[in-house]
This record gives sequence, structure tokens and C-alpha cells, in this order.
Amino acid sequence: MSAKTEARCEEVRERLKAIGQDHVLQFCDDLDEVAREYLLDQVEAIDLDALPALIDRYVRDSGAFGHQGAIEPAPYYSTPTRADADWDVAAYRAAGEELIRANRIAAFTVAGGQGTRLGFDGPKGTYPAGAVTGKPLFQCLAEWIRASRERYAASIPWYIMTSPLNHEATLAFFEENAYFGLPEADVMLFQQGVMPSLSLPDGKLLLADHGCLATNPDGHGGSLRALHTSGALRDMRDRGVAHVSYVQVDNPLARVIDPIFIGLHASAPDSSGEMSSKMVAKASASEKVGVFCRVDGRTQVIEYSDMPEELACATDDTGRLRFNAGSIALHLIGVDFIESLMSGGRLTLPFHRAVKKVPHVDLSSGALVQPEEPNAVKLEMFVFDALPKAKSSIVYEVDRIEEFAPIKNASGTDSPASCHRIQTARAARWLEVKGLELPRGPEGDADCVLELSPLTAMWPEDLDRLSLPTRVDRGSRLAL
Ligand code: UD1
Repeated sequence: MSAKTEARCEEVRERLKAIGQDHVLQFCDDLDEVAREYLLDQVEAIDLDALPALIDRYVRDSGAFGHQGAIEPAPYYSTPTRADADWDVAAYRAAGEELIRANRIAAFTVAGGQGTRLGFDGPKGTYPAGAVTGKPLFQCLAEWIRASRERYAASIPWYIMTSPLNHEATLAFFEENAYFGLPEADVMLFQQGVMPSLSLPDGKLLLADHGCLATNPDGHGGSLRALHTSGALRDMRDRGVAHVSYVQVDNPLARVIDPIFIGLHASAPDSSGEMSSKMVAKASASEKVGVFCRVDGRTQVIEYSDMPEELACATDDTGRLRFNAGSIALHLIGVDFIESLMSGGRLTLPFHRAVKKVPHVDLSSGALVQPEEPNAVKLEMFVFDALPKAKSSIVYEVDRIEEFAPIKNASGTDSPASCHRIQTARAARWLEVKGLELPRGPEGDADCVLELSPLTAMWPEDLDRLSLPTRVDRGSRLAL
């Protein structure tokens, strides 16, 4: 062992001892130099100064969110097709288009999560999503960016956040697929950070093996830190990007670059241009989406699991859900705002705790234990917790069929099957307006499978340029 590694080891051991965590180096003497350096790197990547306070708040205490103040529904810009939509859509669209043409907009996809609920073993973005073609989620998003680049003659860089669990596989997938026709120089993949898993009830760091801490990705809120540490923010600055369009990887219908939303975010009188959101009217009181609320005059998302049931079920005079604004996790975020969230090198977002079964090394025997009961706390940050830090944040309502078809579960709600149905319903709606005859089933659903690429049409009016078939046969499959 080199003297340098020995010295580093002793220094880290002292720091760990000061906070009662030096058991982490218990097996250190058995490790070769490379393995030992790896463990020390892992420990040094943790904010050890902040750890004791985190353990007090989230392990010894439940860290539950107390919503201080009255919770009110957040106001929103109604979707342009509603009778009460009284805002100038064309003006905002023009303002958004100008920003896109001026290369002020980037796309940003969070793709660090694991497809556990979906039962898919691979980066979620590689999951086949196209209703007819089976094209992967990443390609669906890439086609929106390609179509927007062509339409606006803009560069639109695409930043993609992966996690240590899927980074290499994601990178290989982009390479195999030639970056889906986008210039490689305009696609940047970077990894999110991790948090150490902490034992219950005493908040000890756990070892996944003798030379490795048990960690978990730090949540999509960690993206705001990773944009900074990866150099992505600097790259945005160099390119003159002012706002990023934040999109989750699980929604193939996400309008990745939306001029109307960009226009509202950047120029509506009640928007500070810091962070804005899209919503859909909730399908039911129990739908598993976060809800936009106003607490103490600030817009924020209350996650479905934290929403008091009496509020989730409350209705207004017309019988509509009072808290109706469901988050579809699409945001526009200002680059200046992202920078402002990193105060003194630390991201100032709260953590959310999840109690999980975490395999770990038993310190007395040195053997790996697979716990049968939850034994540890995992900490994650949520990107929407940045919303209340914005001075004035707007919410824009969109039509569910147009923009929200997430793939999260293997079957039922938010599954591949429901996603394919929504893709078909959206394409059917656009094509029927253009005179195409479609077969309908007894429930009124289109009795065929349809898929429409944004390279073919980004808006219904784009179909005017095409020579379309005049009818679609019952049970057939059509990709345009
Ligand atoms: C999320 C939102 C919910 C919203 C719904 C809409 C949360 C906690 N809730 O629910 O308010 O109504 O989407 O579809 O987000 N990810 C990372 N790194 C991580 C964790 C997640 O990149 O460490 C990414 C995933 O790849 C995915 C996205 O974040 O793209 C969403 O994560 P997920 O945990 O699936 O959230 P949902 O429960 O689906």
C-alpha cells in the first residue's frame, strides 16, 4: 500500500470517527490499493458534514413534510380548447418560437430511474414504446427534438441524465442507434449523484460489500445538482441556452419542445421565468399524480402519497375535483434559476425518505445479509420541490390525450397497453379531422392501432401537407 493511500485512509477514518461512522473502513486492510481508493472516493463523495443532521431529520425522525399554511388549488392557464381559455395562445406561441429559433432552449430528460415497477431489466429509455413500430422511448423523444430542430432551424441540445446503474448501457444504446439521427455533439449524457442508504434505526452507513458503500440514486431532484457538477450548465451557458425543457423518460407523447409552453413560461406576466409546469385534469381523486397547490402564495406539487385524503376528494360547486391539477412532470426551468438553487455548492432541496430492504455486510461476520424486512432508509430529492423557490410560477393545462401516456407499470394504468391506446386515440383524433374514416368499436374507441411520429406531424395542421390514406381497416396497424 502506498504511503499516500495510507495517509488518505487515516484522514478519512478520523473524519468518519468524528461522526460515529468509521465502521465503513472495517474491512479496509483486506482491500488492495485500487479497491481501497475506490471506497475512499465513495466516502469522500458524501457530504459528511451534513450527514448527522440528515440522519436526525430523516432516519431518527420521519422527515415528514408538514405543509404549513392553508392549501389552496393552484391557478392555471386553461387548455386553449376550453371555453374559459381567455389568453392569447397565438402571441405566446410566437414568443416561444422566437426563443427556439434563437437557440435559447435545450431539452433535458431524466432517465436515471430503474424500471422496477415495469419489470424491465435495462434502462427505461430503451423500452419499446411505439404502438406500431415498437420504437424505444428514447427514440420517441429524439424524434420530437429532430422535428423541432428542422422546423425552427435551431440546434436544441439534448441533455440526458442517467444513473450509475444504467449509464454505460444507455450510452451504448445511443451509440448503437447513431444517436437517433441527432448530431452526437448536441447530445450529452451524464450521471446523477447517489446518496448512501442508512440503517434503521441508528442511521449507520451500510456496506454493499467489503469495499463498497450501499447507495441509491439521489432522485430526479438530484438532476439540478448533476446539471451543475457534470458541466452541463456550463455547456448551456456557452451555447446561450436560457431555459431547459424538462421531460421524464417514461412519456413518449411528451411535447418535448412546445412553443406555447415556452412562450408562457418566458413571457406571461405572472411567470418569473424560473420554473413552470404542465398539468392535466385528474382522471379521478385517487389517480397517482402529484397535484399543483398554492401554499402561502407559492405554487408547489403535493405528491399523491402526501395529499390529505379529504383534500384529494374535495369537489367544487360543479362537482369537479377541487384539487384537479395533476402533474405530468413536464417543466420549463430557467438556467439562472438552476444556478441559484446551488447555494454554497449544496443543492437546497429537501429529501424524501423511503424505507426499503437493503442488502448489506454484517459487520461481525463479514457476510452479506439479504434482509427479509425493510431495514434502511433511502433518501431522494424531487425536482418539483424547487417550484416554491420560484418567485412566481405558472401552470399550463394540456389535454391528456395529446401529451400524457406514461409507461410505468407492466399492466393496467400507465402501462404499455394504456400508452398504445392513448397513442391511437391521439392519432385517430388528428386523422379524423382530416377526413380519414376510422373503424370504431362498441365503446367508441378506434378499432385499429395507430402511431404518429412527430417527424410526420407535430400539430394536427401538419397533416394537411401529406397525402393520407382515406380509410383504415378494422384491426389494422398503421404507423405514419
Ligand atoms: C412521477 C411524479 C408524480 C407525477 C408523475 C407523472 C415523483 C416522485 N412523482 O411519479 O408527481 O404525477 O411522475 O408521470 O416523481 N428518475 C431519475 N432518477 C431517480 C429517480 C427517478 O432519473 O433517482 C426519473 C425516472 O427515470 C423517471 C422519472 O424520474 O423518468 C419519474 O420517476 P418515478 O419514480 O417513476 O416517478 P413516478 O412515481 O412515476
